[in-house]
Amino acid sequence: MHDLFENERLGGRVQLGEQAVVLQGFAMSIASNVLAQVALIETIAPFRHMKTPGGFTMSVALTNCGAFGWTSDSRGYRYTSIDPITGKPWPDMPKEFLTLARAAANEAGFSDFVPDACLINRYVAGARLSLHQDKDELDFSAPIVSVSLGIPAIFQFGGLERTDPTRKVPLFHGDVVVWGGVDRLKYHGVLPIKQNSHSTTGEQRINLTFRKVSSR
Ligand code: SIN
Ligand code: FE2
Repeated sequence: MHDLFENERLGGRVQLGEQAVVLQGFAMSIASNVLAQVALIETIAPFRHMKTPGGFTMSVALTNCGAFGWTSDSRGYRYTSIDPITGKPWPDMPKEFLTLARAAANEAGFSDFVPDACLINRYVAGARLSLHQDKDELDFSAPIVSVSLGIPAIFQFGGLERTDPTRKVPLFHGDVVVWGGVDRLKYHGVLPIKQNSHSTTGEQRINLTFRKVSSR
């Protein structure tokens, strides 16, 4: 994508619901810093392809930072404070991540967001995330803040039922999606990623999803 186009999108908003919005380019200025932190995190907690309870292997590779990390295996989905691969706590959430997530939440109308979990998803061409709800958290009063970096994706945002119609919106490097309140449990997903490359990530898309897992 040309810089000119990126600049035109900067500061744009796409409303996906009453309390769901795409903040275009919101993370652009801190993107390379975030990617450098992700590179450090993955030396401690490597990306892995997890198995779903249904026995499938996820096409998206993931890792986590923060007090809690999202994991999946044949027994189900859950948050743990220990990385099941390394047996150690997930790496700390860098303070820049916290600042970014809080600022984005605030911009979308959710003040005082204090995430305690950051799921880091890595997509290559063909990887996808089928429609799901984020409902493994104890605290639904906090929003979800989702940062897109690298190659683009088509994000789907639907309703409270899996079969509800979805809105499809492209997400580019630096975009941040925030959803909470009445939209907190809306179904969402990512269509199969198309082959592409980006100056910062090569042929990958990196997504950071900030959540508040614990109820205090
Ligand atoms: C997610 O739903 O957890 C991630 C969404 C995305 O990759 O944009
Ligand atoms: Fe999700």
